[in-house]
Amino acid sequence: MSQSPSGRAGVVDPGTERLTPPLHGADLVVVANRLPVQQTSKEGDDEWRPSPGGLVTALTSMLQNRNGLWIGWPGGSQHDELPETFEGIQLRPVDISPEEYESFYLGFSNATLWPLYHDAIRAPTFHRHWWHTYAEVNMRYARAAAEAVAENGTVWVHDYQLQLVPQYLRKLRPDVRIGFFLHIPFPPSELFMQLPWRREILAGLLGADLIGFQVPSAAANFSRLARRITSATGTATDLVYEGRQIQVGAFPISVDCKQITAMALDPAIRARAVELRATLGNPDLVLLGVDRLDYTKGIQQRIRAVAELFADGTLDPEHAVMVQVAVPSRESDAHYEKERHDLEQVVSEMNGEHGLVGKPVIHYLHQNLPFDELVALYLAADIMLVTPFRDGMNLVAKEYVMCRTDLTGKLVLSEFAGAASELRGAFIINPHDLEGIKEGIRSALKVSKKEGKSRMSRMRRKTLRRDVFDWTNSFFAALARPVQPVDLETVDQFDD
Ligand code: G6P
Repeated sequence: MSQSPSGRAGVVDPGTERLTPPLHGADLVVVANRLPVQQTSKEGDDEWRPSPGGLVTALTSMLQNRNGLWIGWPGGSQHDELPETFEGIQLRPVDISPEEYESFYLGFSNATLWPLYHDAIRAPTFHRHWWHTYAEVNMRYARAAAEAVAENGTVWVHDYQLQLVPQYLRKLRPDVRIGFFLHIPFPPSELFMQLPWRREILAGLLGADLIGFQVPSAAANFSRLARRITSATGTATDLVYEGRQIQVGAFPISVDCKQITAMALDPAIRARAVELRATLGNPDLVLLGVDRLDYTKGIQQRIRAVAELFADGTLDPEHAVMVQVAVPSRESDAHYEKERHDLEQVVSEMNGEHGLVGKPVIHYLHQNLPFDELVALYLAADIMLVTPFRDGMNLVAKEYVMCRTDLTGKLVLSEFAGAASELRGAFIINPHDLEGIKEGIRSALKVSKKEGKSRMSRMRRKTLRRDVFDWTNSFFAALARPVQPVDLETVDQFDD
């Protein structure tokens, strides 16, 4: 492996090295920044548990059926005790040093790409040394996949941290089928063009046979940029690049509907929901927010909107209360630290101004709650507030909808969440418009029982139509589709 002589490009050059397929390789390999297990310390004993979430469940069951293997970072620097297999799938850890954690994870992934891909609501930072490390670490993941996958096997690469992996992997193992899925938004050219390494990122992704996005507009942004910046030609959904055909499409991710429904009907979890409401003083109205503590989520805006509704008398502190769960995230990043500080200020102002003795108007939990406790909160909440400034999908919105089996509950949802294009029964708001958020909450308060139920029923039907298992299956079916030989003469040129 060598560095490109060009400091600007800085891409690791795999050269002409080709790896021989391993003798007993895996038929299907998932490559993601993190492994599907996390270490929990219990009374001094370390224990590995599956990471929460439907995505891990869906991918794990797909891997179990196909002699599968998962490559990823175990989270800390120590993984001596990491099991070789977990629930029937093989685990391959990728090491990330403390310096790489700074430049690859906190730096290029979360201080360059994350803000840039989320509408640059925080200024993205560009550092050449971060980029070099990003390329190096991506090569490490690609090499691990190349060493693990069987001849003509399939590799599915996930998310913004690993956008160079498809290209590197293709060079090392041209025989394998490569899919890539981006879980976060893909920005329009006005933003993407800021990236000094825009061509390299696009070329990295174009190493895949199938590139999937959450929504059609993200797929269109990508195809347009690929044709503009690289030598790719073709249509919005079928590109040709370096003589290969590449499919581009939208695959909106979803949740494990069956599991969530079962939990929402579980008597113990329902009893907990009743208990939670009682603990809150059995108010007439419970508003709820559940997010990773991230500046993209619009948490402060929504709290300000609710505070103004208390101030103007729409909400009464005797009868209404808000619960905000903010899951700790990326805490060593200065933007996240500031977001937490500012958020906690807003929470305390709201309680200071509108709370009563023994009756705070907002309960704020900066904690990672177990999923059954979240389901109990979803059941206890009359109005769910999901107000991100930009979000690839937002699964909290779908989780809430799946919990409301009796069709009660209202969802106030940002138009800038991917979920808004599916959950049309929500009260759709613009999170930059404080009056608009208030109006959305007012509409949710005023809606008739009948219309409320019909809205929830519409959202549930839509969500039930495609759960996270359908998502993995549809992506995988598209990836397995036989490639048509490319006739370069007849490829359409898309006109922008
Ligand atoms: C988003 C990203 C994931 C990421 C997750 C948690 O959902 O799309 O790739 O894993 O946030 O962030 P973290 O930085 O803790 O992995």
